[in-house]
Amino acid sequence: MHDYENLDILGKNVLLPRAYFLPQDAGGGKKTTSLNGIWDFEFEGQKGTIPVPACWQCCGYGTPWYTNFQYPFPCVPPLIPQDNPTGVYTRTFTMHTISKREVLVFLGVDSSFHVYINGQLAGYSQGSRETSEFDITAYLVQGENTITVVVYKWNVFSYLEDQDMWWLNGIYRDVFIISNPVTQDIFVHATLDDTYQHGILELELHFFEPVDTVHFSLDNKKYEWHVQSDFFKTTLQIQHVRKWTAETPELYSYRLEVFQNGELTEIIEEKTGFRRIELKDGFVHINGRYVTFKGVNRHEFNQSTGRTVSIEDMHQDLRILKANNINAIRTSHYPNHPEFYALCDEYGFYVIDEADLETHGLDLIQARNSLNNDKNWSAAFVNRMQRMVERDKNRPCIIFWSLGNESGFGENHKLMATYAKHRDSSRLIHYEGETREIAEANPDNPLIPLHDCTTADINSAMYTPLKELELIGQSSQLAKPYLLCEHLHSMGNGPGAIKDVWDVMYTYPKLQGGFIWEWCDHGLLKDGAYRYGDDFGQKVHDSNFVVDGVMFPDRTPSPALSEYKKALEPVFIYKKDGAYYIENRFDFLSTKDINFELSVYDEGKSVFSQTFSEDIPPHQTRKIILEYIRNEYENILEISVKKAGAEIAFYQEVLDGKLRKDEHPNSLALDAINMSFSIWRAPTDNDRLGLKEYGATAVLDSWKKARVDTMQRLRYSDTTEGSIRIVTEKYAAVSLDWGYDLNYTMEMTDEGIAVQVTGKVFGSTKPETLPRFGIKMKLDTSFSTVRWYGLGAEESYCDSCSGKKLGVYELPVKQMETPYIYPQESGNRSAVRWLELHSAAKTLRIEQQDKPLNFSVSCYDVAAIEQAKHREELLPNDYLTLYIDYAQYGLGTASCGEAVLEKYQLKCEDFSFGFVMKSLS
Ligand code: GAL
Ligand code: MG
Repeated sequence: MHDYENLDILGKNVLLPRAYFLPQDAGGGKKTTSLNGIWDFEFEGQKGTIPVPACWQCCGYGTPWYTNFQYPFPCVPPLIPQDNPTGVYTRTFTMHTISKREVLVFLGVDSSFHVYINGQLAGYSQGSRETSEFDITAYLVQGENTITVVVYKWNVFSYLEDQDMWWLNGIYRDVFIISNPVTQDIFVHATLDDTYQHGILELELHFFEPVDTVHFSLDNKKYEWHVQSDFFKTTLQIQHVRKWTAETPELYSYRLEVFQNGELTEIIEEKTGFRRIELKDGFVHINGRYVTFKGVNRHEFNQSTGRTVSIEDMHQDLRILKANNINAIRTSHYPNHPEFYALCDEYGFYVIDEADLETHGLDLIQARNSLNNDKNWSAAFVNRMQRMVERDKNRPCIIFWSLGNESGFGENHKLMATYAKHRDSSRLIHYEGETREIAEANPDNPLIPLHDCTTADINSAMYTPLKELELIGQSSQLAKPYLLCEHLHSMGNGPGAIKDVWDVMYTYPKLQGGFIWEWCDHGLLKDGAYRYGDDFGQKVHDSNFVVDGVMFPDRTPSPALSEYKKALEPVFIYKKDGAYYIENRFDFLSTKDINFELSVYDEGKSVFSQTFSEDIPPHQTRKIILEYIRNEYENILEISVKKAGAEIAFYQEVLDGKLRKDEHPNSLALDAINMSFSIWRAPTDNDRLGLKEYGATAVLDSWKKARVDTMQRLRYSDTTEGSIRIVTEKYAAVSLDWGYDLNYTMEMTDEGIAVQVTGKVFGSTKPETLPRFGIKMKLDTSFSTVRWYGLGAEESYCDSCSGKKLGVYELPVKQMETPYIYPQESGNRSAVRWLELHSAAKTLRIEQQDKPLNFSVSCYDVAAIEQAKHREELLPNDYLTLYIDYAQYGLGTASCGEAVLEKYQLKCEDFSFGFVMKSLS
């Protein structure tokens, strides 16, 4: 049997897992030699070179493969395919001297691998997202050495690595050698005493061999210890310590100097942070205070290099996360590159560090709890926990150890938790699978857990619908907090109702936070286009379900991000019974360093501005008096809340008044208007999909069943009498008896052409809801710019419009659509008072009548967008289509979550709306 098929072989010659740190020599030089770079590579007969670190599928070897939960191989554990694509990496390196101990470190190899040094087997390891270290001293020679790494695509533990993501392989994280390390492991417990004022630092040091003395300095304080052993332990008290939180990421630098035989032999420089994590009074407390986890699920992903991410990639994500009010990260669904956590310490994020464990594919054969209760698999489960905890234990950002994802719940999970608790009682255990198991046992509602988790320290769930969320928030059945480790599935256009979910979250303290699914679309860039599951020739795949982030793969934000940012705003301004209030939603910071910039806008122009400050302690609300002046027009009161110059929150209020009239004479003739009825939209991912689990069905199915996309015109009349033109149309769905009687009354007035659109629905087979209700007009492509007064600048929909501001915006027509990787409805602008399309020669202006409008403008037909599976398949028309909508159906998050909330559904009923059209000359 091959090692990679053997359930009993977790590794050969691997060193004990330990904390990640990089030691220096006496002169402060590196003890590490990187083996990153170009290696020779052989893959299934293909010979060439490959960079390390990299995923081989991103370098022209083999093809990426995407599955969500189904295994991409037969599910007959522990058997794996005999055909096991294998990559053989080789390179040489020079060792000028060979020290007492030479440790070879792999930070991540997917999946399992053998290492040979100068032709001799030096070790074997598995665990694709874990560190593997080998003592290779005995195999090295002075001068040139050859290293060969044989990497297997599958190994028996691939059954434990069934996360919803691309299957990618190779040496995808750094490789290096540590020469002559003396310190084997460090364990820094940095916490607070019971007053939460003073720091306690418990330090455990393990050495490969006995050492004499250790000099230790912490933030300029110096200590000297006589060790005379290979182990040392001590506890330090730090008076009035600067406390670490995500809002105040205070770090202390420390330096360890190790002396042997009177000589300095090793220096280690690292950082720690003092914070105390507790489960107290039913809540997670940090430093004695309730905190709200405003989180994100983040995979390691780069559009070109797959799961190989650079330090700059990490910085970029963390900067954007920080700027969007996010304070927590779940490393879904595996330990990330170890440097990532050091950056989370610095930027300030609470982290759920998740073990590299998912067996989701067992669901398909109804065997969810088979492996997790199987003793033969226990060691492999625990091994994954052990390696994560040991590697990351010194990072203050980590609040929770997560037992993995979607692997049912069984005895082996309990063993994992025991390991973590025993080794590190300072952190909490997270595991969604346990809550799921408990909830599913509830005969009345399988989404509501009737009691707490006992292995995990908190209850954790995914995508809980709003109704159940409220019930859980209100119930007293749970003594532990309830966290949404995933929610607000951000596939394609959506999710909707972010604000509604977070309003509920803020209402009930029991609901202690949520982590949006997910940070980034995993579109892989190939030949200039984004690729997903359909594109690599596999029969079994899960299409574009891998494209479900609030960021596009190139890290431009999708419109969902500003919605999330708004929902998470740490300073919340509201008006109640005519009075204004500021609620400080920070958990630790006061608002004293925050600037409040108040402005009054008249159609985008500031007519009044003033700044003020308020020093409000965290978790407190203060009533404020606002004084401002305005005029008789509709003005917008805006308060922009800024921290260090960047907006973190805003408040807007429409100050009632009349809308400004456009004074230009109209040159549009009655008979120049050519509009037709429009009720179909290119389905969004959330229209197309629906998960029963959360009570959703695909709304698209109901629309298709009623053939909303097949409407045919049955009757038409167009008459003009004097200044009034009336067009009537009758539309009905193919094969069915339902449709709309439409009437467009167009009247020439002093202000332009007043258009009134009325639709009366008829027929017994009508659908319950509609994608949209409105009209469309063809325009020539000379119109190149759009200006509008409404929500912007990004698109907005009825359930996704709280993060956009009312104002006057201008964009090129080409930028009015959002480039979702899987083409779908996009680009709606809502709450629109007026819009103008400009060409060099003319302007078309449309104004609201009684109610603000929705509009979008597109150079593609809805049918073409619907058919296309990639953006580059879309070819622009030689005309533009302008859509003016009374309303559109909400976005929701049915692709993995509940259906569009009732209040955001567009019911199929009678409609009437109006606008004024004119050409400006
Ligand atoms: C969850 C899972 C994630 C992802 C998400 C849907 O069930 O934990 O990994 O699959 O659903 O995109
Ligand atoms: Mg899964």
